[in-house]
Amino acid sequence: MADSSGDALPVKRVVLGATGSVASIKVPALARSIIQQGRERGLRIEIAVAASASALHFFRREQLPEADVTLYTDKDEWSQWKTIGDPVLHIELRKWADVCVVAPLDANTMAKVANGFCDNLLTCVLRAWDMAKPRLVCPAMNPMMWEHPITATQTAALEALGFVVVSPISKTLACGDVGMGAMAEPEVIAKVVVAQLAAK
Ligand SMILES: Cc1cc2nc3c(=O)[nH]c(=O)nc-3n(C[C@H](O)[C@H](O)[C@H](O)COP(=O)(O)O)c2cc1C
Repeated sequence: MADSSGDALPVKRVVLGATGSVASIKVPALARSIIQQGRERGLRIEIAVAASASALHFFRREQLPEADVTLYTDKDEWSQWKTIGDPVLHIELRKWADVCVVAPLDANTMAKVANGFCDNLLTCVLRAWDMAKPRLVCPAMNPMMWEHPITATQTAALEALGFVVVSPISKTLACGDVGMGAMAEPEVIAKVVVAQLAAK
């Protein structure tokens, strides 16, 4: 996890979950925007990106800001644990963070989180989450997926679990289809995340 020494600003910590939506190409821009908007509000923000295996198809570690951002994958969860007494990464991240934002939240992880499944690093962080801490999700999917009735059911389930759902927007998606389902813009998501942190 990032080192917070050597900066006078108060430090806040974000777990940024990334899943297998093409909108994960915006994860580096989102991380930069959260850090910048935090600075504008007098906060130093450290970010732990928890990426699913599918998310890693859409961005590279080198694209993330070097300072204050660490990338964790499912491999880290298991490489850091060898025997009883070793730290368990998803528990450490849950303790470390002040807020969790999943951006993008794809349909698969939406279904898993809404139903309590936890089969990778990110979903384990969310399943172990301290319910006193804020949590946000930013869905991103094809318009037909978004309009499927199961989406409304699962979105309502997430809201009932205390997740703030940052609604997707309507535009031409990467697949060429037009309609609701694109992830909200990184600057908009960053503003909601930083507002949660500044309010604490
Ligand atoms: C190129 C490509 C783009 C995709 N974009 C999306 C998307 O925007 N939203 C979505 O829900 N699934 C999308 N998928 C499907 C997910 O990657 C797939 O459901 C995957 O199993 C999700 O795994 P995860 O939830 O563990 O990240 C896409 C798949 C591919 C191959």
